Amino acid sequence: MESISKGLENVNIKWTRLTTIDGQKGILWYMGYRIEDIINAKASAEEIQYLFIYGQLPTKQQLDDFKKKIQEGYNIPDYSVKSITNLPRSADSVALQMNAMASFAATEKFTWNKQTDRDYAARIIGQMASVTSVAIRHVLGKQPKLLEPSDSLAKSFLKAVFDREPSEKEVEAMNDALILYLDHEVPASTTAGLVVVSALADIYSGIVGALAALKGPLHGGAAEAAAMQFLEIGDPSKVESWFAENIKSGKKRLMGFGHRVYKTYDPRAKIFKKLAQELNPQGQAKTLYEIAEKLETLGINEFGPKGIYPNTDFYSGIVYMSLGFPLQNNIYTALFALSRVTGWMAHFLEYVEEQHRLIRPRAVYVGPSERPFLPIDKR
Ligand code: SDX
Repeated sequence: MESISKGLENVNIKWTRLTTIDGQKGILWYMGYRIEDIINAKASAEEIQYLFIYGQLPTKQQLDDFKKKIQEGYNIPDYSVKSITNLPRSADSVALQMNAMASFAATEKFTWNKQTDRDYAARIIGQMASVTSVAIRHVLGKQPKLLEPSDSLAKSFLKAVFDREPSEKEVEAMNDALILYLDHEVPASTTAGLVVVSALADIYSGIVGALAALKGPLHGGAAEAAAMQFLEIGDPSKVESWFAENIKSGKKRLMGFGHRVYKTYDPRAKIFKKLAQELNPQGQAKTLYEIAEKLETLGINEFGPKGIYPNTDFYSGIVYMSLGFPLQNNIYTALFALSRVTGWMAHFLEYVEEQHRLIRPRAVYVGPSERPFLPIDKR
């Protein structure tokens, strides 16, 4: 049979200047900048969003103008708020984001245009932030609240969700989470979105497609699923027995572990782990952190020889929980999406504007050879 690359492993579907990964060494570069250098430089999420949308780091003036464009997106229309609040509070928050983005696909007159695409993308970052605030508040039983302009997206977002002034450390952690999840080359969600926009469907429809893929537990859904596993274990003293019964037995996968590209420790996981420590988790977050640390050691002992290590989703849930986001309704994956929407759009722009071709693969046929069609009374 002609060869099929299962899961499109090692298949290149585009060229990119945006992000590249060394899976053996565990290195991630955003347009040539190492992720550790970006975080250590205390870059703002908006600077890196600008880098991905416009192709270079902004000057102070460019950054101020960009922030204003993002803030224009905060004020989302009532119909997009209702596309969330009309659903039950038990809804999955990523599906709520999909609904709201679909409401924009239904109403915004978007066409691909090199002159306007980037301004549109900046506004969509703002729209996605208010959509995510409304979605999270909805599943937490709170009234809708849109973002208000402030000196940073991270601060405006935390204030909108929690109705309180966040601490500097909380803003810094939210800012860094927005950077860490911003892009990662062409994972399943980006690829799904690329297929959609390759047909020249609008940018919002591309984001809906990407959200649908991200929602799965093998991809972005692992951010929530990893924390759910820590919750299921419940106490650090139970880690060994749970691991033997569920993971060593092969009954379950260790969520937040393993990666198609990284065959060593995901550099983002190291940074998320450090962020979790710096937030000095208390209560449930503290217990889950202690469980996660023990699970990490067992997981690396068991799977390290097979190149299976913690990925970005292993500790991110602890950071989100320490920021006050409860573990429910796939909120952690919705926070992943809030960050990744910039990476998705940057890849869409790069593809549609510079290397566009409808994505249409083939399938190897293994069905019946030609045969006569018999009428029903002859069958
Ligand atoms: C993200 O692609 C990206 O860049 C994604 C991402 C991004 O930023 O966009 O990095 C974000 O999605 C990170 C991954 C989050 N997913 C999880 O944590 C879910 C758990 N991990 C896996 O299911 C798995 O590791 C994948 C899906 C992430 C990658 O798996 P592959 O490359 O498809 O490998 P595979 O499923 O074919 O597994 C190969 C072997 C299997 O064993 P055998 O059947 O060969 O004996 O490794 C085993 C698997 O059983 N394995 C695991 C495992 N991951 C792989 N066994 C236990 N626990 C795991 N986590």
